[in-house]
Amino acid sequence: ARLRPAQSARTATNMAPRKFFVGGNWKMNGDKKSLGELIQTLNAAKVNADTEVVCGAPFIYLEFARKQLDSKFGVAAQNCYKVSKGAFTGEISDEAVVVCGPGLQLFSVSCGEHLHVEKTQLIGQKVSHALSEGLGVVACIGEKLDEREAGITEKVVFEQTKVIADNVKDWSKVVLAYEPVWAIGTGKTATPQQAQEVHEKLRKWLKENVSETVADSVRIIYGGSVTGASCKELGSQQDVDGFLVGGASLKPEFVTIINARQ
Ligand SMILES: *[C@@H]1O[C@H](CO)[C@@H](O)[C@H](O)[C@H]1NC(C)=O
Repeated sequence: ARLRPAQSARTATNMAPRKFFVGGNWKMNGDKKSLGELIQTLNAAKVNADTEVVCGAPFIYLEFARKQLDSKFGVAAQNCYKVSKGAFTGEISDEAVVVCGPGLQLFSVSCGEHLHVEKTQLIGQKVSHALSEGLGVVACIGEKLDEREAGITEKVVFEQTKVIADNVKDWSKVVLAYEPVWAIGTGKTATPQQAQEVHEKLRKWLKENVSETVADSVRIIYGGSVTGASCKELGSQQDVDGFLVGGASLKPEFVTIINARQ
């Protein structure tokens, strides 16, 4: 599904104003056999229609995934380069993603593994280019362990968010993913309180530095060792609007995570 603008204004009820978003980042895993089985499980599963689900497939399986996955699931590329063509060995153009097939609208900047300021600049360029090609974007930000321990989490994620914000005109196509680097692939998960604290600050940042409308409507999702066991409490936090899921997105457990918020 195309990234829809999030639902309008916050209501007086305690209903979530933003459509829950769950991205599965398959990273560099799977083949047609194992992904085919996973896709069958997903297609057969009962999933909450109020949750937007997007699967990030390896490039060579994008078309396969789009053809096999039920149309209620989106398919995403995991990365694209900052320009459409040229002498860039091994890079993939977002134009290639667009022509790969209808429904491949989401471009996920999967970057949490190693974020530096120079890299953040490149991420800004990639975000800008992907949006100009009509793709949606999941843009990742997050601090490293030494940065958290030094008490500069806020400074780090604000700087990263600023680079992204400088490259975004239409926020309806952007999902912001907070991925503390220390919780990626490590089995360590931020506590629901730690996640909520950062998400809330990010939303305040957006409110002051972009606009109140954007702050209210942009999905801020959490990534970092989310599992079937941890997803419910994480997903019940006010400013956690979904997840970017790594390893668990390759297992039937992913269905539990998709249905974390009912
Ligand atoms: C607005 O952005 C600046 C620069 O990143 C930051 O220092 C400030 O804290 C932001 N405002 C809020 C409310 O986060």
